[in-house]
Amino acid sequence: MSSLVEARDLVIGYETPQGRVRALDEARLEILPGETLAIVGESGSGKTTLGMAAGKLLPAEAICESGRLLVDGCAVFEAGADELRALRRDRLGFVFQNPMNALDPTMRTGRQVARAMGGQPGRTAISALLARAELPDPERVMDSFPHELSGGMAQRVVIAMAIARGPRLLIADEPTASLDASIRDRVMATLRRLRDETKASLVILSHDLRMVARHADRIAVMYGGRIVETGESRRVLAQPAHPYTRALMAAAAGNERPGQRLEPIPGSPPVLIGRCDKCAYEPRCGFAQRQCAEVRPEEREVGGRRVVCHFAERVLENLPRTSGAAP
Ligand SMILES: Nc1ncnc2c1ncn2[C@@H]1O[C@H](COP(=O)(O)OP(=O)(O)OP(=O)(O)O)[C@@H](O)[C@H]1O
Ligand SMILES: [Mg+2]
Repeated sequence: MSSLVEARDLVIGYETPQGRVRALDEARLEILPGETLAIVGESGSGKTTLGMAAGKLLPAEAICESGRLLVDGCAVFEAGADELRALRRDRLGFVFQNPMNALDPTMRTGRQVARAMGGQPGRTAISALLARAELPDPERVMDSFPHELSGGMAQRVVIAMAIARGPRLLIADEPTASLDASIRDRVMATLRRLRDETKASLVILSHDLRMVARHADRIAVMYGGRIVETGESRRVLAQPAHPYTRALMAAAAGNERPGQRLEPIPGSPPVLIGRCDKCAYEPRCGFAQRQCAEVRPEEREVGGRRVVCHFAERVLENLPRTSGAAP
């Protein structure tokens, strides 16, 4: 199946007063039409940078240094303004962590939804769209200002706006993180239902491996601006091949409340200045050997998934590092 999105060795940095931070370090990823893909990783791994890049919606200090990003046939970083506008309007839908940031506080929601739909939709059409996002009383919601809605309802309005033009790709960045734990699953279920209905691809960016496990067809694990493991959810979760995936799973396997953030993995993720010329996870990795500190691992196929680790076979078999070869 030809992919809907293809990131090829994408390098994106941010200009800061301290120099340029490398947020994506030759990231490679494919998103298939109609699939639900979860991109999981700790804070700073590059999830939002990758998600926003799909619509070239990055802040001004972001720079695409090299690589390519193709979204539904559009080379995002080479496209002209009109092509980008059309891509965002007709083929992409975004749902962010905090719905209040996505809504205009001074405008009734009905008008905002109408704008997202384009043309001059009547009340019936607006109300029908809100009902598709499972808002209980769409007529009342239309006439409300965002602050009159609960967080969950506001997020459903944002979801309605995101699907208004039947996008090919829905990108949801921590869509339930700001919501009450009791409604997170229901909002996720709505997103999934709409994905089924619209046949769009759904990409969920999240820290929450547990939530993702239940909702995604495939998982992409991100670390240090690279996708370090991708494969079918069931396969990856049953038997991770990257030590970082294992650590994320172990961190999620405790008795945390639903939706609670992962317990931190000891050590902290890297902040890259240039290309990482070793394995970025090596300082925190229980499987690391000398090679990991000396050679940048390339993506390869191990155990039916793509993985970026010199010792993925050992990780799959849960073998400790070879004795005497510690870094
Ligand atoms: N506007 C910015 N200016 C400078 N650095 C930035 C900016 N945005 C992101 N970064 C840096 O880029 C890297 C990737 O950040 P990004 O926000 O993409 O990660 P993330 O996985 O979405 O994290 P989180 O889980 O916290 O949302 C981090 O090192 C981050 O500090
Ligand atoms: Mg983010």
